[in-house]
Amino acid sequence: MDQELMEAAAEMRARAYAPYSKFQVGAALRDTDGRIHRGCNVENAAYPQGQCAEATAIGAMVAAGGQAIAAIAISGPDGAPCAPCGGCRQRIREFAAPDTPVLLCDSSGLLEAHTLESLLPASFGPENLR
Ligand code: THU
Repeated sequence: MDQELMEAAAEMRARAYAPYSKFQVGAALRDTDGRIHRGCNVENAAYPQGQCAEATAIGAMVAAGGQAIAAIAISGPDGAPCAPCGGCRQRIREFAAPDTPVLLCDSSGLLEAHTLESLLPASFGPENLR
């Protein structure tokens, strides 16, 4: 497992801006060039404008010129795996392969290992538009 990635996700969790839900989430992804991109959730007083940690990390990857996700780690509260929400599964889908690892972790390390395909089977993606 990608310990460096999981540590980065746990570190990012401390940066979360979650004054409304108090539910802090950190995410870190490794792109296919080996670089790590990080994100945290960013809430908003206008609640629907809040952004998930995964969306922040994906935006950071794209802004840095990264093209695809090799693995992603998501860190929530200790001892409680934070599964990506439905919208974030689709966001990951845009840049990942079916077997891309989705690692659910906390400050002590791995809690659950999934793949994109296991979390989002029979999905719709860029190929459907070609
Ligand atoms: N959240 C994430 O950042 N990622 C997820 O996949 C699940 C939910 C955030 C959104 C919101 O700021 C807080 O967790 C509570 O839903």
